Amino acid sequence: MNLDVFTLFPDSFEWFLGQHHVRNALQLGHQVECVDYRDSTTLSGRQVDDAPFGGGAGMVLRVDVIEAALRDRYGIDPANRAPGRRVIALTPGGRVLDEDLVNELAAEESVTLLCGRYEGFDERAIDNFCTDRVSLGRFVLAGGEIPAMAICDAVLRKLPGVLGDEHSAVEESFSEALDGAPEYPHYTRPAVWRDWAVPEVLLSGDHGRIEEWRMAQSQARGAAQNAQEGG
Ligand SMILES: C[S@@+](CC[C@H](N)C(=O)[O-])C[C@H]1O[C@@H](n2cnc3c(N)ncnc32)[C@H](O)[C@@H]1O
Repeated sequence: MNLDVFTLFPDSFEWFLGQHHVRNALQLGHQVECVDYRDSTTLSGRQVDDAPFGGGAGMVLRVDVIEAALRDRYGIDPANRAPGRRVIALTPGGRVLDEDLVNELAAEESVTLLCGRYEGFDERAIDNFCTDRVSLGRFVLAGGEIPAMAICDAVLRKLPGVLGDEHSAVEESFSEALDGAPEYPHYTRPAVWRDWAVPEVLLSGDHGRIEEWRMAQSQARGAAQNAQEGG
């Protein structure tokens, strides 16, 4: 899979790219590459933004700058969206990232993530170059870099071989194995700390009972989550 991240701050991905599962993904042949909008801008002083028409605070990322960056990278007019490539504008008001969307993206060959900064993008860039608008949640961050990392992280760990068997993503929160519910609680040594004891069933060695208990815990968490979210 190929993940391209367009950003004004490519250096901010250094830590992320060094993470174990990300390095695994790269070794397996997947790609995560950062593209700096400033590298292809034709404006003087590597300018990328401008004041909003109509007035107001902050600066807006220019449509011509975003077009130049996409054109430079893919060699086509980005308004003729490359077939098979999802081009995602990261924006607080977009479709909120969840397990379904992560699974959807993990099945793609090529995904482009556009990080905004300041007031965000000139809307014409989103309307004409993007297939999707995606949000990390209903709050506002300073830039799209953290949402882009969250998407790359969640998507890469879905790809076969990236986590290795010992950290299999088959049975974890929101997976089919748990009927889409959050995962059950985990405990480790010591079995008693202060007066907090691990649930007895987990020390029983009875795998059938443990499995049953875990599923029940997961279902209870799912019901509590639905109630909290009004579902
Ligand atoms: C300060 S925000 C712009 C907020 C915009 N003026 C608004 O009110 O919706 C700058 C950039 O950060 C990114 N961003 C901020 N919050 C986000 C979120 N919750 N999900 C996805 N991207 C976000 C977007 O790329 C956005 O263009």
